[in-house]
Amino acid sequence: MRLFFYLTSPERSPLLLLLLSALLGCSGDVEALKLESITVPAHQVTGKPVELDCNYDLEGDPLYSVTWYRGQDEFYRYTPGDRNPVDIFELPGVAVDTSLSDQKKVTLRPVSLLSSGKYRCEVSADAPSFHTESRSAEMLVVDLPDRVPTITGGRSRYHVGDEVHVNCTSLRSRPAASLMWYINDNQAATENLVEYTPMNDSDGLETSRLGLRFVVGPRHFPSGELRLRCTATIAAVYWQSSEESAEGQLQQTGSVLESKGIYAGGSSSSRHSWASCLPVFLALTLLLLTNLCSQASLH
Ligand SMILES: *[C@@H]1O[C@H](CO)[C@@H](O)[C@H](O)[C@H]1NC(C)=O
Ligand SMILES: *[C@@H]1O[C@H](CO)[C@@H](O)[C@H](O)[C@H]1NC(C)=O
Repeated sequence: MRLFFYLTSPERSPLLLLLLSALLGCSGDVEALKLESITVPAHQVTGKPVELDCNYDLEGDPLYSVTWYRGQDEFYRYTPGDRNPVDIFELPGVAVDTSLSDQKKVTLRPVSLLSSGKYRCEVSADAPSFHTESRSAEMLVVDLPDRVPTITGGRSRYHVGDEVHVNCTSLRSRPAASLMWYINDNQAATENLVEYTPMNDSDGLETSRLGLRFVVGPRHFPSGELRLRCTATIAAVYWQSSEESAEGQLQQTGSVLESKGIYAGGSSSSRHSWASCLPVFLALTLLLLTNLCSQASLH
């Protein structure tokens, strides 16, 4: 116990003190102040406030200042030694809520698309070390789509051999929503997708659209029903889906026969050969009739 105290108390251990100062003197990376991390949400939704945290440990150093930047521009400075410790600088899209900001965090009032950017916290120690560290992270502000994705072009009933051709549209967001199609809960194959480039509105919002196109087979009605689902996602902040189901018809009606012919290939050609026999059949009948008539007139 005594020995422990002897070793850990610098004023009682000139040797230890000497050792420590030698260590500090010869290796520059023994630093007191440490900026461990900053907390900046990678994505935030427009209209929500954001808290940015600067997690540092002074480890005995006196704090000189904490400064926040977006890009190259400073917008918040906390200097405890000043008579007025908080300084705020106006930036487009960056409005600091001073009541919720201090030496460890800064809170931004509801953010807009203009608030996106690279945020950096810089912490400086006062004399004697004047050590400074900084860290940065990107924040992208997301404007959510006006509504859930909409499916257009779908029918209430499909027969085997019909072509499904539908569109999924996600209106006005930034960035554009990523869309995907599912057929009966299975992700659609790439060759069945029809890609469209997002459309930009004058206000910078984008509308995305994805088409789905395939020929219906019996396997698409495992339970008599064809279900088409479209999902729209934006990073980790948005996920919505819309679904439509259609009745599946395996059995024949007039129009089914027609589409089955296209689907099966062979049946349409056999129908064709029957049709081409008709004139021959009619000609034969006519010949037979005229023959019969002439025989009757002879008698
Ligand atoms: C899908 O959208 C494209 C592009 O706007 C359009 O040309 C096409 O007719 C649409 N198809 C359906 C089935 O709505
Ligand atoms: C639409 O806007 C996005 C993002 O602002 C941009 O990357 C893209 O080039 C624009 N597209 C067109 C066709 O203007």
